[in-house]
Parts: sequence; C-alpha cells; structure tokens
Amino acid sequence: MTLEEKVGQLVQVASATEKNAAATDASGARLTDAVLARIRSGEVGALIGACGIGNYNLAQRTAKTSRLGIPVMVGHDLIHGVLTQFPTPIGISCAWDTNLWYRAGRLIAAEAPLKGCDWTFTPMLDIARDARWGRIVECAGQDPYLAGLYAAAMVRGIQEPVGGRRMAACLKHYVGYGAAVGGRDYDEAEMSVETLHRIYLPPFAAGVSAGAFTVMPGFHSLNGGPCSANRYLLTDVLRGELGFTGFCISDMGAVWEIGPKGHGIARDAVDAAAKCVNAGMNMEMTRRSEFCFSEGLAQAVRAGRVDMRTLDDRVRDVLRIKERMGLFEHPFIDEKPAVDLEAHLAFAREAAAKSVVLVKNAGDVLPLAKTAKVALAGRFADSAHEMRGAWSAYFENVRNPSVRAGLAAAEMALAETPAEADVVIACVGESQKRNGENRSYADVSFDANDLAVVREAKRSGKPVVALVFCGRPIVLTELVEAADAVMIVWNAGSCGGWGIADVLTGRAEPTGRLTVDFPRASGQCPIFYNRMATGRPYGSGRFCVHYEDVPFEPLLPFGRGLAYTAFAYADAHAERQGGRVLFFAEIANVGKRRGTETVQLYVHERFTETVRPVRELRGFEKVTLEPGERRRVTVEAALPVGDYEYFLASDSRADGVRGEVK
Ligand code: BGC
Repeated sequence: MTLEEKVGQLVQVASATEKNAAATDASGARLTDAVLARIRSGEVGALIGACGIGNYNLAQRTAKTSRLGIPVMVGHDLIHGVLTQFPTPIGISCAWDTNLWYRAGRLIAAEAPLKGCDWTFTPMLDIARDARWGRIVECAGQDPYLAGLYAAAMVRGIQEPVGGRRMAACLKHYVGYGAAVGGRDYDEAEMSVETLHRIYLPPFAAGVSAGAFTVMPGFHSLNGGPCSANRYLLTDVLRGELGFTGFCISDMGAVWEIGPKGHGIARDAVDAAAKCVNAGMNMEMTRRSEFCFSEGLAQAVRAGRVDMRTLDDRVRDVLRIKERMGLFEHPFIDEKPAVDLEAHLAFAREAAAKSVVLVKNAGDVLPLAKTAKVALAGRFADSAHEMRGAWSAYFENVRNPSVRAGLAAAEMALAETPAEADVVIACVGESQKRNGENRSYADVSFDANDLAVVREAKRSGKPVVALVFCGRPIVLTELVEAADAVMIVWNAGSCGGWGIADVLTGRAEPTGRLTVDFPRASGQCPIFYNRMATGRPYGSGRFCVHYEDVPFEPLLPFGRGLAYTAFAYADAHAERQGGRVLFFAEIANVGKRRGTETVQLYVHERFTETVRPVRELRGFEKVTLEPGERRRVTVEAALPVGDYEYFLASDSRADGVRGEVK
C-alpha cells in the first residue's frame, strides 16, 4: 500500500448525496461525484450516513475499481432500531432482560441493510449519574454491572452474521463521557483511576469481551487528556488491559477539536493527526471540511512524527475488521433483503411493555378493569411523534403508536371527559426535543403545565394514572403526590401505545425496574445508589451526609419498579462454593395476581484497604409466580474472596433481606 492508500483507510467522510437523474436509490439521490472520486482513488476507508441500498452498492462497486479494491464501511447511528423503533436505550435498559437486548441488536442488524448501512454507532455505554446530562437517554443507566450485560447482549445481537456478512457495533463514548462536570455535554470529566476502573470501564470491558469491532472515544477530556489523543486510555487500557483488537473511530470532528480552537493540545492538522494516531486512534470521523488525517497524517509520517509501523498497525486493525465483517467476500447488500417487519413490530410492542416502570399504584388503580371507561388527558395522549425518542432518523415501520391508538386497539371504552370516565390517564412528562446530544438542563423539574393537567384531572374525583414520557430522570416529587398511579413510559417506539396499553390493561405485567435514580430536586444531581461509604453516613444525625433543604435519598431509586402483586422474602442466606458465592432466598407471591419478581442482589465489601460503595449490584434473577406460590431462588454472583454484606430485594428500599457472606 502507498502511504496515501494507508491514510485513506483511516478516513471517514460524509456519504454526501445529491438529487440526480442517475439516482441509485429509491429516494432519488446519488452519492456525489466528489465522494465517488475519493473512493475510487483510495482516499476513503468509510462513509458516515446511511445512503440507501443502491448507493451502498454503488460505493462498493466504486471501491472495487480503486487500485486495491478495498471495500468501504458505511456507519450510522442506528441506536434503538432502524425502520422499527423500540424504546430508547434508557427505556429498554429498564427491562433488565439480556435476551431482549440481544434481540434488539438482531433487529438493528436485520434492518440496517435496508438503509444501506453495515456499522452502527451503538451501544452507548456511558455510565450516567446526572439527570442534567441529556445523553442519559442513550445509555443503559447508572450501574456498571447492568450496563455490562447490556453491552455484551447488544454487541452479540448486532454482530451475529446475516448471510455471510456481519454488522459492526461501536462501543461509545470511551470513556467517562457521562461524568461531564455539571452534566454539561462535551465538558471535561475528572475521576480517580479507581473510579474509572470500578464504574466507568466495566461496560466497555464487557463489550470488548463480547467481540465489539469498534470503539469511539468521547469528545471530552478525562483528567486533562482529550480521549481522542489519550494514549493511556486508547493503548494501555483499551488494548493492553481490556484486550481490544478492533479499531477506534473518532467522534465527529473530535480529532480536529484537540487543536487550537478546541482542547488546545495540537497546533495544526499535522500535530492533531500525529497525536491521535500515536495515542491509538485509527480512523477520523470528519466533520464539514475539518480533515486532519487526510490533510496532515501523511505529512506527519514523512516528518517522522508517526512511525510507519504505528501507521501499519492502525491500518491493519481496520482491514482486519473489514475482513471479519465479510466485506471482502460479500461487499454488496442484497437489493431486496428479507426482513420480517411484522415480527419487528411485535418485538417493538413487547419491548415497550417490558420497558415501562410502574412506580406508584395506590388503591390498585391498575390494571384497568376490562369494563373501565377511560378519559385521556395531557399533551402526549395523541402523539405518535413523542414515541420516537432521540436518534430516530427513520420511523417508518410504525403502527399508530399513540396511547389513544393503543387503548383503542385494546378495545378499551374511551370517554370524552373525566366526568364520563371511571379513570383518567394523563400523558405528561418531557418532550423528546429536550433530551439527546447537547440537551443539558440545569433544572430537571417536572413541567408545571403538565402538573396542572394532572391536578385538574384529579378534581374530577376520578383516579388519575400519570404516564410519564421522558428520556431522563425528571423531578416527579409533586406528580407522585398528585396522581394515584404513575408509570414511566420513556419514548416507547413504533408500537409504544400498544405496549403501554398491554400493561395498563394487565395483558402484560409491569416488570420494568429503574436503572437510574430519579431525584427529588435538580440540586440532588448527580445522584446514584452505589455511592461510597462515608465516615458520617446518612441517617446518623445532625453531622451526617445530608442536605438541609431536601431529603438525601432520591425520590425513586435505582432498582425500583412495582408489580401488580406483592412478594415476600424468607430464608435468605449465602454460601461459598469454591470460588463462587451463591445466594438463596424463598420468594412468595403474597398478592392476588400472577407476577414476576426481579430478585436483585447487592453486596457491600467490608474491611478493605480503600473505601467501597455502600452497595453494588452483583446479580439478579427473575421469577414468575402464581398467587400463593413460593419458590427458592438462587442468584450467583462472581465475587472475589472477601468479606461481604449482602442485601437481596426487589427494590433497594423496600422489604428485602440482609445478611453476611461467611
Ligand atoms: C455523537 C456520536 C455519533 C456521531 C455520529 C456525534 O455528535 O457524539 O455519538 O455517533 O455524532 O453521528
């Protein structure tokens, strides 16, 4: 390979299209001649932006005519589905269901070819402890263990072969992006090496172990080092400690951003290219005309700033992934891929039902009686749009997903006014416009008008069920007081209203559990259950960790989620068996309906050299029980030798059982 050809493999450009008589895609657009010329001359390793099957195949045909004939990759953010959308990641994380996450990955892999895409910039594995940070919607919550399971399941689902080809997943944003100070997107993050390893790295380690092909370093600087040019993170930790063998793609324009107008650690394009490549970056995702690798990398090599062996390593990583994706043997996408869109709608409905979290159900308002007349209130009751959620470029395989349509399909009697109804369902919360990239808010209060809607509905004297649309934890303190039942429904996707109606009517049970703390006030952020033990713990009086103005605990903690029945725990104990620790408990359904309990195992490691979190999730099991039924449940936790206390519960604050691992 010539130096220019090597550099070409490390450059990703926008798959710019234009309307053209010779259109190669159903949309009537064709890749521009400028992009095709660059592919033909070997200057491009990948495109960003799904461009349709015709243009994808045109790009590959053009790549074949380049001197070396190396196929290109086409990446896009297909985050919670493609044509069919399932709930946003924060929503689907609440399912605590690895098989569901795996199937979500399969859906993305099956539908991506329809849009001419073979690489998705997902899963997003940032641990997010701060509701002010708008990208919390894209991640799997605040817990490293759970996010690790999510990572592995999604990667397996996305990368499993489809007809000789494998799609590439991308773990992002490596690492600590969710720890941006003040919840301000793109801002710096600071943390100890201990916190990095215990909290922020484990999901990436799990994704790497599952074989993820690519990793995207974040825009931010961690402890003063921009991630894009951070040798410790990209080489020592990612490749050295975690054993990553794929390639790193920069975030959009992030190489350029280490330059004088950004982080300010590089003088120009040559310097930026050299610093990033030497640190371990492979490919630059370019933005507009900000090209550092194509403008500066060859010069950096010629000037001896980047060793040819280093460049070869970076290129080899990219070629190896293209090979593992099957692109050399099968560069083209089938013109008519066989995709079962009906089955995907069924999946979206199931996923929506499994993602909702019931957090209050006073007087057993839910499930709705079959004969109940329902009045709808609130600005989201008829909205299909609010079911989309962030990053949903396509929303094409959709049944009218509004709550009203879902209830109608469930054959519920819909009343015009609360006066004529038996129950009012208020669809309220946060508009999807308010979350996602660069949607940081200092104040995550509940919308005052929405609260007024719920209070007004309450004045009818009928029970009020609030459905909370959101992409982040918002302050539900007053809402939870005002409404009889509260269910967090996120942005539920293509069949959102149908899945929500399934739970409202009891066709499906509520099994979701929160994966983030919901604060009582914005000022509690950041807030997370796995905080470090302190010398003056909360609850021990005046001189304990607390606020003077609001309670210390969140309103709704991580792990919270109600069923339509109740469970009791008995006879809990732990046993060491060789290197394994097993936890046992007898769980009984003491309510009147069939129900599924998520038995959550938390541990606290004691008498260590450094302080440990008060509690860390280390395992969970689901058990479905008929009324009156009881069953012995075993939860296995991989724990190194040590001295532990444990807490076994469905909800980190409700009835549960405590014990010691002897
Ligand atoms: C985001 C990434 C995304 C990229 C490409 C950036 O602004 O931070 O998460 O993958 O754009 O769309």
